Amino acid sequence: MAFSLTGEQEREFEKILARYPNKMAACIPVLHLCQGANGNWVSDEVITFVADRLGLSTAHVAGVTTFYTLFNRHKPGEHQVWVCRTLSCALRGSDKVLAHCKKRLKIEEGETTKDGKITLRTAECLASCGSAPMMQVDKSYHEDLTIERVDEILNRLLES
Ligand code: FES
Repeated sequence: MAFSLTGEQEREFEKILARYPNKMAACIPVLHLCQGANGNWVSDEVITFVADRLGLSTAHVAGVTTFYTLFNRHKPGEHQVWVCRTLSCALRGSDKVLAHCKKRLKIEEGETTKDGKITLRTAECLASCGSAPMMQVDKSYHEDLTIERVDEILNRLLES
C-alpha cells in the first residue's frame, strides 16, 4: 500500500523543506517525519515516497536509512531500548547491563520480545559518557545505571 502523509504532516514536511538549501539536505529530517508517521519504521513504501518527493533515487534514500541506526527498517517493538556500548559505558559495566537485559527479556540484541513490547539494541556513544553506563529508552536517557535500575525500567516498560 502506498505511503502518504496526513494534511498536518504535509505542513510539517513543507516546514522542513523551507529550513534547508535543497531537497537532498532535508532527507534525514523528512525520513524522521515519515518514520514517525509510519509506526516508527521505514518501509519500502516510505523510501519510495521520500525519494519521489525529494527527487532522489530510492538507492540514496535506502542508503541513508541503513547508515543511521535510528532509522528502523523493520517494525520495532512498542518501546526501543538502546544500551550504549562505547568506551566509557563499557568501562563502567555496559556488558553487564546488556547481558541482564537479554536475560530479563529472553531476547538477543536486535530482537523484539514475543509480546511486541520491547526491541533491544546497542548503540555507539550517546554523548552521556559522564553518567555511564547508560541506555536510551525511546526518547529518554537513563543514566548511572545499576542492575536494579535496569530492572525498574524494564518492569515499567513491560507493564505499560
Ligand atoms: S560511551 Fe556511553 S554515552 Fe558515551
